[in-house]
Amino acid sequence: MKCVDDFRLRLGKHELVPIMVGGMGVDISAAELSLEAARLGGVGHISDAMVPTVSDRRFKTKYVKDKLQQYKFNVANSDKSVVQFNMDMLAEATARHVSATMEAKRGPGLIFINCMEKLTMNAPRETLRVRLRAAMDAGIEGITLAAGLHLGSFALIEDHPRFRDVHLGIIVSSLRALQLFLKKSARTGRLPDYVVVEGPLAGGHLGFGMDWAEYDLATITNEIQAWLKAEQLEIPVIPAGGIFTGTDAVNFLEAGAAAVQVATRFTVTHECGLPEDVQQHYLTAEEDGIEVNQISPTGYPMRMLKSSPAIGDGIRPNCEAYGYLLDAKGNCQYIEAYNREVALHPGAKRVKVMDKTCLCTHMRNFECWTCGHYTYRLKDTTRQNEDGSYQLLTAEHVFQDYQFSKDNKIALPELISSTA
Ligand SMILES: Cc1cc2nc3c(=O)[nH]c(=O)nc-3n(C[C@H](O)[C@H](O)[C@H](O)COP(=O)(O)O)c2cc1C
Repeated sequence: MKCVDDFRLRLGKHELVPIMVGGMGVDISAAELSLEAARLGGVGHISDAMVPTVSDRRFKTKYVKDKLQQYKFNVANSDKSVVQFNMDMLAEATARHVSATMEAKRGPGLIFINCMEKLTMNAPRETLRVRLRAAMDAGIEGITLAAGLHLGSFALIEDHPRFRDVHLGIIVSSLRALQLFLKKSARTGRLPDYVVVEGPLAGGHLGFGMDWAEYDLATITNEIQAWLKAEQLEIPVIPAGGIFTGTDAVNFLEAGAAAVQVATRFTVTHECGLPEDVQQHYLTAEEDGIEVNQISPTGYPMRMLKSSPAIGDGIRPNCEAYGYLLDAKGNCQYIEAYNREVALHPGAKRVKVMDKTCLCTHMRNFECWTCGHYTYRLKDTTRQNEDGSYQLLTAEHVFQDYQFSKDNKIALPELISSTA
């Protein structure tokens, strides 16, 4: 019987443990988590979601305060089109986050950045271009283009000196999305170096409609592998979504996958960015406490704990401070939903908004508890303390459990006394 460590992911000149820890915004896949994945010989991801905000927390910068100061006059205005990101600030914040992470890197693995293309930031092309290029300038080793895959992304960086040296990957949830991307980017003469195939059980935003349950990761992965073979395209395929044990991973690797991308099991590690009280909610979750809903203003379904404080919260839109989801015209679905409720409830101190959420604010404050389908199994991966809470894990423990476990087993951590 094989384990994940019997396989290797080959990316350019690199030979890696075939485990990618997926990007989790906003700063859930924190630098510390990505650094552990790289130290252990795999691939870690930081996220490029809301990096100025992340930088403020990580480096005590004041990007958010300065932006709010600049646009304070517009706070009560429902038209947010004037709220623009300063490109120099965006480049600086990205460079700071990426270079500090790269400088801290140890070990044979790689650090990539997950780029959420659905963050349209009131100027989709310009902001995406700046984010990608600043990350490349600051030495990132790879970029995974995610949610809202922009078909012209390669063209935004094709004149960058590192265009052919940085590993470029895309996340797709269907063969059709892959075909469209390859067609559109063919002109740049550059294929993706890897394709993450994200199935319907993943955390974060889903690349499916509300009929997500009718799809299955293994089927989509097989379809993509068969098509690539028929086209004689040698692009490593990396399935993601619901791969919970080393044995789940081996099943994909034996069927021809180059690696697996995993995330949910790392949400309860010390190195993950989630606060510990939130991690306890993930650990105690039951299957019926998890839902896929449509409250994300991106328009994509999103999986989360039903107990997320973000659900129903009617906070005033915070676009002057954040504004990451404003489209090219300065609109966001949450602003519309919020204004509708305010108009329906004149004089109310606080409205409830059930159909959309202010994702920027709630992701920033760790109040939107997005998670993978198998979050309810996390309690089986650790030990319970006497007070009913669960022991957090080290990223090393989870990584090595994926790497070495066989026979669907999950290794429990060493017992730590809860009174220690
Ligand atoms: C808490 C959380 C946040 C996530 N955020 C993102 C994100 O910002 N961008 C992205 O491309 N994928 C995101 N994902 C998806 C993961 O990167 C990964 O592909 C997927 O969750 C793997 O499935 P698993 O969680 O069942 O292991 C997120 C997943 C989780 C659990």
